[in-house]
Amino acid sequence: MTPLQEKILQLKKEKNAVILAHNYQLKEIQEVADHVGDSLGLSYQARETSANIIVFCGVHFMAETAKIVNPTRKVLIPDLDAGCSLSDSCPPERLAEYLQQHQHKNYYVVAYINCSAGVKALSDVICTSGNAEKIVRRVPSDRNILFVPDQNLGEWVQDRTGRHMTMWQGNCYVHIEFTHASISRIREEHPNAPIVAHPECTRAVRMLADEVCSTEKMVHYCRDHPSDTFIIVTESGMLHRLRRELPHKHFIPGPTELCACADCRYMKMNTLEKLAATLETESPEIILEETLRQRALIPIERMLDWSR
Ligand code: 13P
Ligand code: SF4
Repeated sequence: MTPLQEKILQLKKEKNAVILAHNYQLKEIQEVADHVGDSLGLSYQARETSANIIVFCGVHFMAETAKIVNPTRKVLIPDLDAGCSLSDSCPPERLAEYLQQHQHKNYYVVAYINCSAGVKALSDVICTSGNAEKIVRRVPSDRNILFVPDQNLGEWVQDRTGRHMTMWQGNCYVHIEFTHASISRIREEHPNAPIVAHPECTRAVRMLADEVCSTEKMVHYCRDHPSDTFIIVTESGMLHRLRRELPHKHFIPGPTELCACADCRYMKMNTLEKLAATLETESPEIILEETLRQRALIPIERMLDWSR
């Protein structure tokens, strides 16, 4: 631990705070976190914590979700500008307008958790990459499904469940950078290494993968698989988590056309310095209007119940 990391641990203790970090966070942030995980796991952690303060090291919609499920805690995020291109691709006003224009379809809205509280409030159920298939299978069979905002995750679930869905045309700017050609090239260099890809990747990339799953399931897959080398096709922070958990195995980042690995600029806005300042000043804080929070909680609670 560096002196700054020690300081963070001390502040955390003094303030009875819990640090939740997404798998894409910087290595030094993962090292001081109480829990490192995917969106689903961290939502459960946020709901169940007894700490006074939740410091969410991730992007805005994740911290907002923590506030929705546990409103009596103070929820902080090291950088309030840590957004998400996928969440931004579906503004609540546009979704409301779309639903209004397609009232005759009586859509059941399944929203990937990478969306704002405003979009959650317009949805029937939330899903994450870890439970999307399970959630979609539970939607009443007589309803038309509108899946928002990630077209790629939606297509992946549609392929697996055979359930037709209308897709919102959103995507993650990081995951669509991996291409069929860039992943085929790395496979040629390591022909025996299984390829593990996130479902936000395009179909052209997913079809090359041996496994498509959430970031948390990547840890389980690599742990249980006999191979000692894997190609990991997702944001680069995942490599830190895998290397910490499975130090005897070897992980190769999936390349894009331009880079040897892919970084999410929003995830990387959180730094140790900002984390220390956040704990010290107890800001920036996530504040949510109560009516919106209560409406957004309904589809999240449904997801948490359905994915138990
Ligand atoms: P996971 O829930 O699989 O960690 O995904 C979150 C995310 O933002 C992927 O880009
Ligand atoms: Fe959003 Fe993509 Fe970053 Fe995940 S990796 S937080 S989906 S922009």
